[in-house]
Amino acid sequence: MRSLKDFNLAPQIVLVRLDLDLKDKELADLSHPRLVRILPTLKFLLERRNKVIVIAHRGRPENREQSLSLAPFKDIFSALLDQKVAFCASYQKAEISNLLENNQLVILENLRFDPREEENNPEFAAMLASLADVYVFEAFGMSHRAHASVVGVPKLLETYPGFNLEKEVVVLTKIKNDPPRPFAVLIGGEKLETKMPTIESFVSLADFVLVGGKLIEEDLPQSNKIVPIVDVITADKQGEKFINVRQESYASQSPILDLGQGTITAFKRKLALARCIVWNGPLGLCEDSRFAGATRELALAITQSGAFSVVGGGETLEFVVENGLLDKFDHVSLGGGAMLEFFTQERLPALETLEWKS
Ligand code: 3PG
Repeated sequence: MRSLKDFNLAPQIVLVRLDLDLKDKELADLSHPRLVRILPTLKFLLERRNKVIVIAHRGRPENREQSLSLAPFKDIFSALLDQKVAFCASYQKAEISNLLENNQLVILENLRFDPREEENNPEFAAMLASLADVYVFEAFGMSHRAHASVVGVPKLLETYPGFNLEKEVVVLTKIKNDPPRPFAVLIGGEKLETKMPTIESFVSLADFVLVGGKLIEEDLPQSNKIVPIVDVITADKQGEKFINVRQESYASQSPILDLGQGTITAFKRKLALARCIVWNGPLGLCEDSRFAGATRELALAITQSGAFSVVGGGETLEFVVENGLLDKFDHVSLGGGAMLEFFTQERLPALETLEWKS
């Protein structure tokens, strides 16, 4: 893979793909890892007098939901970089060029407001590529999605990986090739379509597979590496009281809200044995503090285990940041599904494209 350090050409227009998938309440935190970790790439380009156009997505908009606009990032990047930043709601080249006359950095609107991004539409990719001379991919969290900005644009422009992406690949490759064993993986959260197939693969790759969140409502593979669920917290029939029930008597019509104490204890025992732990996804409905018990206890268990610890993913980072645990992990990945698939897939679509260009 070529490195951004080799990028030493005369100033040009650089298109930079970021992952700005942050919730509204996270926007006030200028120290959020999804912001701070991409700054070295932006600063490197700006200090070399390049003009920078930032493209990114936020959430999974059905329409042009203004709550998922990237407009708030104009002030965020202006504060973080201490310079004037412009926002452009359109992808019109003339309008963007105008803004670039008086601004070194322009942020464009949420790529997913245009359905052609997720369809990997070649015309959309060509339109994006036509805006700049060079492309920098600094969205590790998107590396597993074959979308237009991920795999289409790099085929059309000279492309470099951002510094954070490069670091992620180095750290995660080391673990993938030779994980300190026992190697434990803890997977929770939603996005079942992304995570279920990774559980299957981790059964071969890891020594212990610990599963929580929505995933335990699904049929998990039969394997003695999957640590059994002993009990869960669910609601009574009226949804008024929350009860700890043994897994086998859990009524499938009630949603699982959190892991029960017996399961937490069993998971902690395995984590204490591990020498490497990878974690993505809350284990319960942790946005409600009544159901954050498993996530909190297991996060602490990881940080106290002495194992090499890796954490990643949007909701997981939100929890880790809110609970002041960020610097307790050895590696904080900006990817959730992307991090899991990095381990379980031969090569992620974005990384394949980057290597193809080098
Ligand atoms: C993430 O938050 O993991 C990335 O932004 C990818 O988002 P997606 O699962 O909606 O593609």
